[in-house]
Amino acid sequence: HRKYRPGPVVRLPNRQWPDRVVERAPRWASVDLRDGNQALIEPMSVAQKRRMWALLVDLGIKEIEVGFPAASQPDYDFVRWLIEAGQIPADVTVQVLVQAREDLIVRTFEALRDVERAIVHVYNSTSPVQRDWVFGQDRDGIRALAARGAELVRREAAKYPGVEWTFQYSPESFTATEPDYAVEVCEAVMAVWEPTPERPCIINLPATVEVASPNVFADQIEYFATRVSRRDCLILSVHTHNDRGGAVAAAELALLAGADRVEGTLLGNGERTGNMDIVTLAMNLYSQGIDPGIDLSRPDEIIQIVTECTDIQLHPRHPWIGELVYTAFSGSHQDAIGKCLSRQGRGSPWQVAYLPIDPRDVGRTYDAVIRVNSQSGKGGVAFVLERERGLTLPRWLQVELAQIVQAESERGGEVNAMRIYDLFREHFVVDQG
Ligand code: KIV
Ligand code: ZN
Repeated sequence: HRKYRPGPVVRLPNRQWPDRVVERAPRWASVDLRDGNQALIEPMSVAQKRRMWALLVDLGIKEIEVGFPAASQPDYDFVRWLIEAGQIPADVTVQVLVQAREDLIVRTFEALRDVERAIVHVYNSTSPVQRDWVFGQDRDGIRALAARGAELVRREAAKYPGVEWTFQYSPESFTATEPDYAVEVCEAVMAVWEPTPERPCIINLPATVEVASPNVFADQIEYFATRVSRRDCLILSVHTHNDRGGAVAAAELALLAGADRVEGTLLGNGERTGNMDIVTLAMNLYSQGIDPGIDLSRPDEIIQIVTECTDIQLHPRHPWIGELVYTAFSGSHQDAIGKCLSRQGRGSPWQVAYLPIDPRDVGRTYDAVIRVNSQSGKGGVAFVLERERGLTLPRWLQVELAQIVQAESERGGEVNAMRIYDLFREHFVVDQG
């Protein structure tokens, strides 16, 4: 990541990556096996969950929400398998979700018995529409419900003193909740948990539904971060959904606005339009010279496993890792890329027009960068011949060959490197034999 630099900036200090992000990547938490799984037409099988788990661990994600064990027997069984089969590495923490209800909280702790450490994530909804129409409770009632949930979590945790517990609370539908009330509810939860700077709790603020633009979400996060008391006793987490297409941007702006931790999924699977895509956000940081702390050097493996587990295909123009994102067909782009690549020095900052990063950093080669069709020009044709055959053509020959290739492409579509070479031989090489 060190060969990348942020682009030119207007010096408005509150819009730059703060030192705390540049120096240390945000804490990532995957919700693939919970939010991601609950949104699938066909939930993941046991084998698929195991593959997804292995992938997440392999990529270096340290906090992984694995399900809602009190509400789902397959989730319960998966948690038990992780614990009993010794599948949780020493630096990885499992997280489980539960509603603020006594029976569910008791069963959640049962599911986690014998675990070494875990995050218990309790939530209840706080927005006016949910208060009025779903729970039929006023502000005091919902605050009391959250505090009661926190008490039950604390009570049950005390029954398992050997476990290193972290408590997490989410005011679900936070984005539609009055900001001062969200602070009030979280304060009530924290008053029960009594977190300290050494043993902080996690407060996770979800854009359960993305209802405004990312800057508005960031304002809500900043409002919370600057109003909540004992800020040093909590890890401020965000969990964004993509209803308006802004989940990644909202999470990025939330990091600028004070968040420490981001929940999301690989490639953005999740409820409705999906959760925030961890791969895209991590690559956004990487391409600005920030180490995301996740291994993204083998995206094809991520694509293959996530596709197999979710049965959702990746769009070829998916940011950073789609099949076509490092490919240029148009003549002027090819020309510029070819010139920049030939001048790009080893170890110097990356400066290649139309290629925001070096495709090799995400396990891609230069082979796909320039592909030739009827929109391509002499630069692209020359680049392909040089790359494939080591042939450097004079300019007049590039022009003539490009016309022949273009005519062929107008008849039959994309022309591959071998065919370009054949056309070159047919038209310009005199057979000595
Ligand atoms: O989107 C959401 O609000 C959630 C919560 C349970 C955190 O998934
Ligand atoms: Zn969610």
